[in-house]
Parts: sequence; C-alpha cells; structure tokens
Amino acid sequence: MTTHKLLLLPGDGIGPEAMAEVGKIVAVLNGAGGDRFETEEALVGGAAIDAHGVPVADRDMDRALKADAVLFGAVGGPKWDGVAYEIRPEAGLLRLRKDMALFANLRPAICYPALAEASSLKRELVDGLDILILRELTGGVYFGIPKEIVDLGEGQKRGIDTQVYETYEIERIARAAFEAARTRKGKVTSMEKRNVMKTGVLWNEVVSRVGRDEYPDVRLEHMLADAGGMQLVRAPKQFDVIVTDNLFGDMLSDIAAMLTGSLGMLPSASLGAPDAATGKRRALYEPVHGSAPDIAGQGIANPIAMIASFAMMLRYSFALMREADALEAAIAAVLESGTRTGDIMAPGCRQVGTAEMGDAVAAEFARRLAA
Ligand code: NAD
Ligand code: IPM
Ligand code: MN
Repeated sequence: MTTHKLLLLPGDGIGPEAMAEVGKIVAVLNGAGGDRFETEEALVGGAAIDAHGVPVADRDMDRALKADAVLFGAVGGPKWDGVAYEIRPEAGLLRLRKDMALFANLRPAICYPALAEASSLKRELVDGLDILILRELTGGVYFGIPKEIVDLGEGQKRGIDTQVYETYEIERIARAAFEAARTRKGKVTSMEKRNVMKTGVLWNEVVSRVGRDEYPDVRLEHMLADAGGMQLVRAPKQFDVIVTDNLFGDMLSDIAAMLTGSLGMLPSASLGAPDAATGKRRALYEPVHGSAPDIAGQGIANPIAMIASFAMMLRYSFALMREADALEAAIAAVLESGTRTGDIMAPGCRQVGTAEMGDAVAAEFARRLAA
C-alpha cells in the first residue's frame, strides 16, 4: 500500500481553522482502504515568528523539501505589522515557493452552478465559468534585485522593485499553460504589458515562439494585462487558460476569485519541474485567500478553498483522479443542497460555520468513495 507523507503548514488567522477541515478529509481517505496519508505539522508565518523568530525555520524548510506534498493554510495579520520586512509572515511563503522552485501556480476559477448568484457579476456571465490562471511564481518583481529603499537625504527616499524575466522562466510557464490547454478547450491567452515593459516584450516573444514551434494545435492570443482585467469582468467565459507573470497573476486571480462567488472558494497548486529521474515534482497546495483577520477565530470561514486545494493535491501529486473527482463532486453537492458559509450565503439556504461545512463535505465524500 502506498503511503504519502504530507507536511501541513496551517499558518495564521483562518489558516488553522480551514486546515482542521482537511483533517476530516484525510481521515475519510485513510479509512477507505486505498492510498494512505501520513501528516505532520509545522509552524509558518506569524505563528513561526512568535515561536522561532523567523517565518519559516530552516528545519521546517527541510521538511517541506522532503515531503511528498505540502499543504499551506494562510499567513499574516495585524499582529505582525511591526516586524522587520525580511521576516514578515508573507516572507515565509515566498521562501517556500522560491526554495522549492515552485514556478507554476495553477489557479482555477470555476463557478459552481449553485453559486452563480453569489458572484458579483450577472448569472449569465458566470454560469458554467471554468478558467485556469497559470501564474508564474518564482520570478518577476517579487524576487528581482535590487529590491530596496534607498535614503537620498533631505527627507527623500527611493523605493525600488525590479521586474526581471529570463527566457527559460517564460518558456517553462508557457509550456505548462499550453500543456494544460491541451487537456481543456485548447486556448491560451497570454497577458503582459509589452506597451510599457521590456519584460512584457520578451514575455510576448517567448510565449509566441513556444506556441508556434511546440504547440501549433493550441490557439494562442495575447492581451495587454489591463485590458485582460477588463475582459475578465466583462466576458469571463471567453477565456480557457490565462498565462501571466507573478504580479499580474496575483491581481488577476483575485479578480477571477470574485467571479466564482468568494475568495473562500478558490484553490491553487504551486508546482515545480518534474525530477528527471523519478518524474516526481515538488508541490505546495494553498487557497488563494489570506488569513482573513476580520473573521479569524469566529469559526465562520469558508473551508472550501482549502479542501479544494487538497483535491488538487490528490490529482496533481498523486494521480488519485477518482478520489479528486469524488471530493470535488462532494463540494458541488453540498453547495447544491443549500449548505453555505456566510461569505456565499443566499436566500433560502442554510448558514453553517467552518466545522459544519467540513463535516458536510467529508460525509458526502465518504458516501461517494464508498459508492
Ligand atoms: P484575505 O484574503 O485574507 O481577505 C480578504 C477578504 O476576503 C476578507 O474580508 C476576508 O474575510 C474574506 N475571506 C478570505 N478568505 C475567506 C474565507 N475562506 N471565508 C470567508 N471569507 C474569506 O486578504 P487580506 O485581508 O488582503 O489579507 C489579510 C492578510 O493575509 C495579510 O497579512 C496578507 O498579506 C495575507 N495574505 C496571505 C495569503 C497567503 O497566505 N497565501 C494570501 C493573501 C493575503
Ligand atoms: C497570494 C498572496 C501572496 C502573493 C502574498 C501573501 C505573499 O497574495 O498567494 O496570492 O502575493 O503571492
Ligand atoms: Mn494574492
């Protein structure tokens, strides 16, 4: 029997609350007689700063590198607003992404039919929506050097961030996007700002070449990223796969999240390159949302983004397609039955807390696995 070793990093705010619900899903799987999951936990973000003085301890970084997959909750919160920039909670997540070389961030935005009313757009615009954002995750302005504030004297300072992309970084995220499109509707939209940015010019050139030479069967279109944001809220169903850089991807995926009803619904997978010898790839799965300090500790957060991130793990790290499908179908069925957390509440539905939502999904998942 195969045993998968998972590192759980619950983090701060609603992170641990959502992660607790994944524990129920793991328990169902471990009782089902198939692959087994062994989990261990470590601190990350503000919780790690409080305990170790850094947002991710070296020892825990090693555990992340050795795990079969990492599941991440959320980090940050007002409590750590005052800590030094280098060790702020978010730096822990950035180190995990960089040191694990997780260059491809997959952020699907799927509008469950039951939730079309919760979207900020009209039902007909989002009903049946299924787009996949491929966000480059280890380059661009997040990591470019120099990144600093220079004191110019006389009360003047200069803040500098540097947007840098090299050919190989664009090639590999482009290939990930084209490969994904082949399993979907066969269309890639690349977004950059070649009208003002040199990285945009290079991005456009490299994505075009990879598409032409290696994926002539996939339809490729280009959009300036600002216009892309506009199109996402005007007519989101025109998109299949969107490939874009680290910063544009951060913003566009939050926009896409609201199309689906709530930030509490959107999962993500961050993947590295497959190992040449074993074919295994490093991977971290995390909801797109943050630690939600405004609702933390109240037991009302929506755990679906976290549970759906676990479903992505079943699919992408362990090829457990039947289990992943069953878990996603369980989420859809629970929503269909009218069970809702506050963020996606609608008239006539039954409002529940985080734990009840987790119980409902776990019970439905167990039923579907047994069927
Ligand atoms: P946020 O995603 O934490 O919250 C934005 C809004 O969405 C809030 O009103 C929140 O209540 C709501 N929301 C988010 N997730 C929800 C859920 N599961 N259920 C119900 N409602 C939900 O973003 P923010 O407020 O801009 O950031 C708060 C902190 O989180 C900051 O410190 C930020 O840096 C951090 N952050 C962390 C991550 C991460 O760990 N991956 C991602 C984004 C933001
Ligand atoms: C996200 C978050 C992170 C990002 C922060 C917390 C570093 O907003 O995962 O979308 O900007 O990438
Ligand atoms: Mn973000």
